[in-house]
Amino acid sequence: MEVKITETVLRDANQSLIATRMPFSLFEPILSTLDKAGYYSLECWGGATFDSCLRYLDEDPWERLRKIKAACPNTKLQMLLRGQNLLGYKHYSDETVRLFVKKSIENGIDIIRIFDALNDLRNIETAVDETLKNGAIASGTICYTISPIHNLDTFVKLAKQIESLGVQTICVKDMAGILSPKAGYDLVKALKENVKVPVSVHTHATSGLGFMTLLKCVEAGAEIIDTAISSFSGGTSQPATETMVYALKEFGYDIAVNQKLLKKINDFFKPYKSEVMKNGTLNPLVMGTQADVLNYQVPGGMLSNLVAQLTAQNELDRLDEVLEETPRVRKDLGYPPLVTPLSQMVGVQAAANVLAGERYKNVSTEIKSYVKGEYGKAPGEIDKDVQKKILGDEEPYTGRFADTLEPEFPKAKEYLGSKAKSDEDVLSYIAFPNQAEAFFDRREERKKNTFTYKIVRKD
Ligand code: CO
Repeated sequence: MEVKITETVLRDANQSLIATRMPFSLFEPILSTLDKAGYYSLECWGGATFDSCLRYLDEDPWERLRKIKAACPNTKLQMLLRGQNLLGYKHYSDETVRLFVKKSIENGIDIIRIFDALNDLRNIETAVDETLKNGAIASGTICYTISPIHNLDTFVKLAKQIESLGVQTICVKDMAGILSPKAGYDLVKALKENVKVPVSVHTHATSGLGFMTLLKCVEAGAEIIDTAISSFSGGTSQPATETMVYALKEFGYDIAVNQKLLKKINDFFKPYKSEVMKNGTLNPLVMGTQADVLNYQVPGGMLSNLVAQLTAQNELDRLDEVLEETPRVRKDLGYPPLVTPLSQMVGVQAAANVLAGERYKNVSTEIKSYVKGEYGKAPGEIDKDVQKKILGDEEPYTGRFADTLEPEFPKAKEYLGSKAKSDEDVLSYIAFPNQAEAFFDRREERKKNTFTYKIVRKD
């Protein structure tokens, strides 16, 4: 049996270990090797890369994508897309989602992995439809979570619905690294018995389960796994590519990657790892195994956010109370999967409930919007008393929130005027207004400087 590998070093490993600070110029020299290594796909765009390019790296994310494509003509380029939220946290109109997807594909993306934090399929259907229309591969995603209302049946039902949207693959996305080898095996087996499309598995090594989980998922029939080249693997990143390939090959699985080239790729990234460790971009703590994630059933990132928040308020001694309150808040809210931004929202609310000494006395705008139904449908029932305390007599919205939104593009284009050089620029602005505009200004400034320089030389 064949197993295919999605390499995440350019996107999720980069995001999970060093907050997406890897500049294009750093990895440019290794792109042609990545292209020859025999990966199924190269995850290289979407997620936080777009924001990070504009905000920290002074790079045009679209240009980055085009350059990667030019250097990697033989490997499918993959991106992660948050459905109707695109790359952010708010909902966009269908027009914007369609244009963003179309442009992503035009600029070089071959596979779009599309998910919704609540597994509300109304939030992924437009992106899936547009991906298919443009001839790319849509990977429909199940956000894996553990709760009393999530079980094999609900995940299988969800997978069947996702498959009926026409996706070419289904991804089990375990963003928290809590999918155990047994649960992963059972889930993939159930999916393989009920859906026809290939199944891919995405996990994180945070809790230490990741390597075992991927092995068991492959045994259960998963065709594609996400891994990261070893120097950027482990901890909050993915299990290591070379290690998984070695172990799976021993079992007789057929894997198309070239192990010599994997070594070359890893050797390339090693000195950069030393550099980011020295300059503090890579905190050695994120490389370790955090078994606490399993006890609390909260993602590693959420745990560190809570610690930071309570430390800032000088209330760290109440961490245990907050961790006990977290599952109660999650239950009140209908068991949303603890994935960004819901993990942060639930954590902040649990802390507010504990610190105020009264539950839901203080409620964030985001939680209010969630209870109103603006994020989509909660997986379970939202507690009626909590809903009443937060919304008063206001009725929650049960429709599809994107249907209430005006197209963002015409206004943004008009506002930007000559600052936007392309539709892609306008989309950057719609996704991250402040960061994009600041980037356009710097770009303009650079051009002016180049121009002056040329005249000086002529003189
Ligand atoms: Co991930």
